[in-house]
Amino acid sequence: MSQDKYILAIDQGTTSSRAIVFDHDGQIVSSGQLEHEQIFPRAGWVEHDPKEIIRNTNEAIGQALSRANINRHQLEGVGITNQRETTVVWNKNTGEPVYNAIVWQDTRTQKIADELGGEEGADKYKDRVGLPLATYFAGPKAKWILDNVDGAREAAEAGDLLFGTMDSWVLWNLTGGVNGGVHVTDVTNASRTMLMNIDTLDWNADIAADMTIPLSMLPEIKSCSEVYGYGAKNTLLIDTPICGILGDQQAATFGQACFEKGQAKNTYGTGNFMLINTGTEPVASKNGLLTTVAYKIGEDDAVYALEGSVAVTGSLVQWIRDNLGLIKDAPEVEVLAKQVEDNGGCYIVPAFSGLFAPHWESDARGVIVGLTRYVNKNHIARAALESVAFQSREVLDAMNLDSGVELTELKVDGGMVANETLMQFQADLLGVPVIRPEVIETTALGAAYAAGIAVKFWNGEEDVKNNWHEDKRWVPEMDDETVARVYRLWNKAVDKSKGWVDEDV
Ligand code: G3P
Repeated sequence: MSQDKYILAIDQGTTSSRAIVFDHDGQIVSSGQLEHEQIFPRAGWVEHDPKEIIRNTNEAIGQALSRANINRHQLEGVGITNQRETTVVWNKNTGEPVYNAIVWQDTRTQKIADELGGEEGADKYKDRVGLPLATYFAGPKAKWILDNVDGAREAAEAGDLLFGTMDSWVLWNLTGGVNGGVHVTDVTNASRTMLMNIDTLDWNADIAADMTIPLSMLPEIKSCSEVYGYGAKNTLLIDTPICGILGDQQAATFGQACFEKGQAKNTYGTGNFMLINTGTEPVASKNGLLTTVAYKIGEDDAVYALEGSVAVTGSLVQWIRDNLGLIKDAPEVEVLAKQVEDNGGCYIVPAFSGLFAPHWESDARGVIVGLTRYVNKNHIARAALESVAFQSREVLDAMNLDSGVELTELKVDGGMVANETLMQFQADLLGVPVIRPEVIETTALGAAYAAGIAVKFWNGEEDVKNNWHEDKRWVPEMDDETVARVYRLWNKAVDKSKGWVDEDV
C-alpha cells in the first residue's frame, strides 16, 4: 500500500464537527475541528443549527487537509460518524431545514412517547426495534417537527421533505445537496430511530404509520462499509468516494476492535456509551440496555450489541464550566478534584435529560445531595467526575446481568480518558482493569476503518486488530468495603433525582 494515501474521517459530534486524516497504520496525521452553538430554547430542549454544522464540517475538512498538506487525490475514501438520534428534516428542493436539528438530549417528545406507548407502555415496540419508547430516539423527534412546524406535514406528504440523522444530512450535502445529493443512512444510525426492524434491518411501515411519518421521507438503509456516493463538484472532496458510515458509538466499538462476542468498550464523550458485542443475533435486554446494530461490513452479516447509554457525563463538566463558572476549561476539573481525598459526602446525579440506562426515567432531573458547610468546589468537582464513573458502574452491572458473564476488562476511549483521576476511580468501582489504547480517537478511527475497508485500503478486521495497541491500564485499588459504601450512597442519590418532573410536558 502506497504510503502517501490516506483516509479522512468526519466526526459530526454533539459539541463539534471534526475531520481527521488517518494513515495506513491507523495513526492520526492531522485534524480540524469547529464547535457549534448549543441552542436551549426552553428547559429540556436542545437544538443545533444544521446549516452551521455543514459550514463547520466543510471548514474542518479544509483544516485537516491543509494541515496534512495533502489534496483529495491522496484520499482513498471518506468515512462519516456522528452524534446519533439527532434529527433533521429538510426540503429536498431548497436544501433548507424546516426546523433546527432536535438533539438526542432533548426531552420535548415525552408526551409523544407516552401517547405512542398507550396502554402497552414504554416497551410497546421493543421486540421489533430493540428500544424502549423514550425521548432519546429519532422517530418521535421527526413526528414532533411534522406536528409542530407550519406546513411541514403537507410538504412531507407531498414528498418534498427528507428525514435524516446527522450522517444522512452530512452525506446528502457532501454529495451535492439539491443537485443530486444521496439520501442514505446506515444500519447503525437507523437502529436508533425506533423505525427499523432490528432483525430484518428495513423500515417498519406500521411503526412509521403510528408515528405518522411518511415512508417517502426516510433514507435508504445501507451497510456501514460501501460506496454511497462521491464528493460533489466545487467541494474539497470532489469525486472522492464516501464509503463508511457508523453512529459514533458503533464506530468506537469498531475502532476498538471489539469484534468478538463479549468484547466491550466504554466511550467518555458528552455522554458515556458502553457497548458489548453480542454476535450476529440481536439479544433482548432484561436490564435496561438497548439492542442495537454494532456494524455491518458490506454484504457480511450484521453484528449486534447491547448498549448502556448514559446521557450526561462530559457535558456535566461543560455545565460546571459554562453555567457555574467553577472552572475555566474542562481539564481544570481534575485539578480541583485532586485537591481533596474524597467527595466530602457530596453526590451529583446529572439527570439533565432524565436518566437513560439502566433506569429510563424521563421525569428524573439533576440533583446535588449531601451538602454541608464542609463541602467546597473541589468536592463538587470530584463529585462530578465520580458521577461519570458511577453511571458506568450501573451500566456494567446491567451488562453482566444480561449476558450472564462477568466482563473481565473494559476498553475505554473518548476525551475524558485523559483524566487519570477518573480512570483510577472507574477501575476501582468496576473492579476490573480499564484499558486505554494509544489512539483514543477511536470514534473517528472506526469510521475511517469502515471507509478504508470498502475501498480495500485495509483488508478487514485483521488490519484493525493489528493496528490496535494498548497505552495504559488502571487496575482496581480501592477496598471492597469503601466501594460498597460509596455505591450505596450513589444509589440513594439516584433515588432522590427520580420523579422530579410533575408538570405536563
Ligand atoms: O447517542 C448519542 C451519542 O451518539 C452522542 O455521542 O460523542 O456526542 O457523546 P457523544
